[in-house]
Amino acid sequence: MPTPMHSHLTDLAPSSSPRGGAASPALSPVPPAISVHGLRKSYSGVEAVRGIDLEVPVGEICALLGPNGAGKTTTVEILEGYRSRDAGRVEVLGCDPATERGRLKPRLGIVFQEAAVEPYLTVRETVAMYAHLYPGHRGVDEVIELVGLAHRRAERVVGLSGGQQRRLEMAIALVGDPDLLFLDEPTTGFDPAARHEAWEVVRALARLGKTVVLTTHYMDEAQYLADRVVVIVGGRVVAEGPPATLGLRQRAGARIRYRLPAQDTPPGELAAAPDADGFVEIHAEDPVALLHRLTGWALEHEQPLEGLEVIRPSLEDVYLELTRRGGGAST
Ligand SMILES: Nc1ncnc2c1ncn2[C@@H]1O[C@H](COP(=O)(O)OP(=O)(O)OP(=O)(O)O)[C@@H](O)[C@H]1O
Ligand SMILES: [Mg+2]
Repeated sequence: MPTPMHSHLTDLAPSSSPRGGAASPALSPVPPAISVHGLRKSYSGVEAVRGIDLEVPVGEICALLGPNGAGKTTTVEILEGYRSRDAGRVEVLGCDPATERGRLKPRLGIVFQEAAVEPYLTVRETVAMYAHLYPGHRGVDEVIELVGLAHRRAERVVGLSGGQQRRLEMAIALVGDPDLLFLDEPTTGFDPAARHEAWEVVRALARLGKTVVLTTHYMDEAQYLADRVVVIVGGRVVAEGPPATLGLRQRAGARIRYRLPAQDTPPGELAAAPDADGFVEIHAEDPVALLHRLTGWALEHEQPLEGLEVIRPSLEDVYLELTRRGGGAST
C-alpha cells in the first residue's frame, strides 16, 4: 500500500524560524534569504539572463514561472553556486554563492531539474549517503517516510518509477535539514495524488520558516503553493506578485455565462448570440453591476438563468498573456 507523502509531517520538529518560531526583535529586521540585483549570464554569446532583480524574504515560497529557455534553471543554479555569473550582486543566506559555496552548501536543499542518482544503490542507502554529508541531518527513515517511499526503502533506484525517483530526490534535498530549498520542477512526472502530497510537504516546510524557491510549468502548483510568483521571459522578470493579483488579475474584467432562456431574451448588453449549446458569454468590466441588472431582469421576467457563472481570468490566462507579450514591461 503506498504511503502518503504527508503522513509524517507532524514528525518535523520546528527549528528556530522567523515565521513560525521565536519572535525577532523589532529593531533588527530579518535580512532576505535571497537578494539579487542585475544578474546576468551568457553562454557563448547567448544571453540567458539579462538583468534579473529578485528578493525572497525568509519563510516565503517563491515560484519562478516562464517558458522553456527563459533562464529559470540558470538563475537558480547561480544562486545555488553551481554556475558562475557574468554580472550582478547575489546574496544567498548572507553568502555570495560564487565565493562562499562551502559555507552555503550545508544550509541548502536542492532538487535539480536533471538529477543523477546512483542507480544501483537502494533508496535507504542513497538517502543515508547524503545524510552523512550534513552534520545536523534529519533521520534517514523519517525523511523516507516523509516523501512516501517507506514501502520502497529497500528498492534499488533503477527499480523506481519516474515519480518515485523524483520523491527520492526530494528526500535527498530534505535530509540535510536545509534553511533554503531550491526545487527545479519538483513534481514533473508525479501523478496527481503524489503532486498534492508533495505540495503539503513543501507547505509544511514553509510553516517551519524554511524558504522555498521553486520553478514550475504547472499553474495550479504556483497558485496553490506560492506566496509570490515571478514570471521570467527571455532572461528578464516581466511580472511578479502574489498569484491572486499577478498582472492586476483581480482588477481585470470578468465573463458572465448562462444559458439563454427559451421563452424570453434579456435586453441589449445582457445577452449575446448563443453558442451551439445555447449558452451566451458576455464580457463585463464591472461584473457586479451587470450581474445585478441581469438577475434583476431574470426575477422580474420569471426566467431561469441556467448554469449562471462568473468567470475570472485564471493565473494561466494571465501567464499566457504575459508570456505572449514576451519581454514586455514589468508590472
Ligand atoms: N550549459 C549551457 N550551455 C549553453 N547554453 C545553455 C546552457 N544552459 C542553458 N543554456 C541556454 O540558456 C537559456 C536558458 O536556459 P535555462 O535552462 O536556464 O532555461 P529554463 O527557464 O530553466 O527552461 P526550462 O523551462 O526548459 O527548464 C536557453 O537558451 C538554454 O539553451
Ligand atoms: Mg529549467
